[in-house]
Amino acid sequence: MLPRGGTGLFRCGTPPLAASPCALPLTKAAPRGIGKSAMDLISALEGLVPELEKGLGQASSLEALEALRVDVLGRKGRIAQIMAQLPSLAPAERPAVGQTANSVKERCNALFESRKAALEAGREAEALRRFDPSIPGRAPWRGSLHPTTLVMEEICQIFKGLGFDIASGPEVEIDYYNFEALNMPPEHPARDMQDTLYITDKVLMRTHTSPVQARTMLNRKPPLAVVAPGKVYRRDSDLTHTPMFHQIEGLMVGDGISMAHLRGTLTAFVRAVFGAETQVRFRPSFFPFTEPSAEVDISCCMCGGKGHIGDAPCRVCKTTGWVEILGCGMVDPAVFEAVGYPAEVSGFAFGMGVERVTMLKYGIGDLRMFFENDVRFLGQFAR
Ligand code: PHE
Repeated sequence: MLPRGGTGLFRCGTPPLAASPCALPLTKAAPRGIGKSAMDLISALEGLVPELEKGLGQASSLEALEALRVDVLGRKGRIAQIMAQLPSLAPAERPAVGQTANSVKERCNALFESRKAALEAGREAEALRRFDPSIPGRAPWRGSLHPTTLVMEEICQIFKGLGFDIASGPEVEIDYYNFEALNMPPEHPARDMQDTLYITDKVLMRTHTSPVQARTMLNRKPPLAVVAPGKVYRRDSDLTHTPMFHQIEGLMVGDGISMAHLRGTLTAFVRAVFGAETQVRFRPSFFPFTEPSAEVDISCCMCGGKGHIGDAPCRVCKTTGWVEILGCGMVDPAVFEAVGYPAEVSGFAFGMGVERVTMLKYGIGDLRMFFENDVRFLGQFAR
């Protein structure tokens, strides 16, 4: 049996029981008129301590420990049950039983705490024993750039190699740069080609990167060659259109710049992105700010321009062997006039959608992938 103020208590740092009211030998209280039933309750209470100590010694988990604690100290536990009999004692006998109950509670608590600390220390030691510092660590997740950003950088790098500078302009643009300086006066029907998000009558989200052409020419003298990457906005949202997407604009102005320079530049560009075998074809088109204008197709990089992959029809080029990649043309003299350039200069401009180039380059079939931010998709482009 545990001696009064047993080791468990001292280990836990609780005051030795000698200091507690019930530490006095019980027999000393008895002569002062403690009856048989009071003595029974006191010894029942005292008996709980060694019983509990035994139980604790066998409890090997924190859960078992807690179950024991509830059984003894809980609101309906053993001590409470014994104390429920207090009213049946003569009033004079009650204090001694109450003091014993307090002392027993205190000792039981101390026993719990001590056993709990020992079990916890054991768990920790076990965890440490299992910890193997020689196992290689788990590498932290590394973020990566978005495929649109990567392709945009790649494209800019190619044009830098061809002697182009990088230019930029605001995404919230004024009507003048987005339309008017580009030969699209108010009421011009070509404005209908671009569903515009207006901020006010004269301020809008730019619908293309072409306003950077006007801004660049107003700030610089020819000769010049720039590419302008950035976000553009249109009032357009369905399976193949998002209200925001990315474009890269290109502009070269100088003496004697011709369609041949345009063709050579774009051919070098598409071969750098899609491979040296890639064919380029120009189809006549219309843009208000270029004349003549063309749409550029490249031979389909999925099927190699054959229109079929084995026996299956190519879904990227829909069996035509060609895919459209950008719009371009020779800068319209009206644009040169708007920015105050001399009539002798000539130049070309082009504009392409970066998501479109990325989809073609990687065979991505669904534009929504770019905006869903699923790391399983995005992670494939990590470098
Ligand atoms: N800005 C045009 C568009 O968004 C593309 C373009 C740019 C066409 C430059 C010709 C020259 O559709």
